Amino acid sequence: MKNSPSILIVDDSRDMLELLRRQLESFHLIPIVSDNVIDAIEILETTQIDVLITDINMPEVSGEQLIRYASEHFTKLPILVISGYPNLETAVNVMKLGALEYLVKPFSSDELKEAVFSLLPEETLKEEKTQITAQNSFQGIIGSSPKMQELFKTIERTKSNKATILISGESGTGKELIARAIHYNSDFSASPFVPVNCGAIPDNLIESELFGHVKGSFTGAIADRVGFFQAAHTGTLFLDEISNTSQELQAKLLRVIQEKEVTRIGDTKAKKIDLRIITASNVNLQNLIDKGQFREDLYYRLNVISLNIPPLRERNGDIKPLVNFFNKKYSKEFNKKPLKIAPRVYTTFENYSWPGNVRELENLIQRLVVMHDDAIGLDEIPQHIKTQIDTLPEKDSFETLKEHEIKYIKRVLLHCDNNKTKAAQILDIDRKTLREKLK
Ligand SMILES: Nc1ncnc2c1ncn2[C@@H]1O[C@H](COP(=O)(O)OP(=O)(O)OP(=O)(O)O)[C@@H](O)[C@H]1O
Ligand SMILES: [Mg+2]
Repeated sequence: MKNSPSILIVDDSRDMLELLRRQLESFHLIPIVSDNVIDAIEILETTQIDVLITDINMPEVSGEQLIRYASEHFTKLPILVISGYPNLETAVNVMKLGALEYLVKPFSSDELKEAVFSLLPEETLKEEKTQITAQNSFQGIIGSSPKMQELFKTIERTKSNKATILISGESGTGKELIARAIHYNSDFSASPFVPVNCGAIPDNLIESELFGHVKGSFTGAIADRVGFFQAAHTGTLFLDEISNTSQELQAKLLRVIQEKEVTRIGDTKAKKIDLRIITASNVNLQNLIDKGQFREDLYYRLNVISLNIPPLRERNGDIKPLVNFFNKKYSKEFNKKPLKIAPRVYTTFENYSWPGNVRELENLIQRLVVMHDDAIGLDEIPQHIKTQIDTLPEKDSFETLKEHEIKYIKRVLLHCDNNKTKAAQILDIDRKTLREKLK
């Protein structure tokens, strides 16, 4: 699989970082973000970056110093400067230091695109164009939809660095599966992968579990113990359900991440740690930040690389391959022949909203394999999956008129067994229009 180019964005304005992150993602590039120069330098040292985008005026260390550093140590790295103060002197100065392009804030998405693509080395652009043959699975993760393909490319890019990754996605979308794939696909896969469910460990124990303790440091500390951070040394620490951490723990995590060392409870000496941290959350951390329940500075340390796994209902293309995968998997496990699944069943699945995402689909197929021996038609499918087509989308996740139209047409087709003449009659349009719409 060929890689998409990685772009490092450095800006002290977090709104700007979010905006640029989204724009670069829409150009199919991989954004890596930092809100300060010190962290940015570390990312440059450890991660392959194709273009550096930096702001100039930042507290503590300025963008000019970053440009000077980058052009001395990474002579081939193209640099794009974005600045809010159009000042000729600074512009000339940063160009002298090694910046190749200069954009004055605010700029449009098109201007950004043009500037970034003009800086990308030609090889990377060629690679982009030649990538046609898509793999529909990666390390046991099934996904042929464009969104999953993008995700696989990003994972490939994390292979040889230890940049921190935040995985977000609804429950059952495969966050843990992806965290494991990142680790076992990396250059340090021989080192430990240590998963920790932050929501499952009681508040009074989590600190000693994470950081370790020395004997006698608190009642119950009957022996020395290393924490998960040290256990994951040189490998990957996976902090699942990161939203379930207290403000106090968040402050401690931030310190450990910034200083790259842990001190066991009751110990006086800190120990250096070198590892990748992956965190996962099925709630939107940005909302928690707005409510004051999650530290924004920690969020920016965790969200250097952002992986968002879309819900299953937004990647219909994955449903059939997933059904086939689980059908094979469970029929083998239960020593049975794979089920024959009727085409109408797939269509029904594609119209269902899958609130439990892939986990729900997996459980359903497992149950079907256990309960049935041969063919699966609509009769064998639970009623709620068939009727749910009628219900309104939950909360504020409304769909566009077009999406709604597509769903409605599919529903009518399903009703008349894919008979297009009948469907066209019900919809009161001619067959040609229906054919156009189906395209
Ligand atoms: N793309 C996929 N291909 C194959 N199996 C998948 C895929 N996505 C998820 N699964 C399977 O679905 C189940 C749920 O995945 P996982 O536990 O990784 O979800 P999660 O996002 O961590 O959920 P939660 O937020 O509830 O913890 C697992 O059995 C996993 O193997
Ligand atoms: Mg999980």
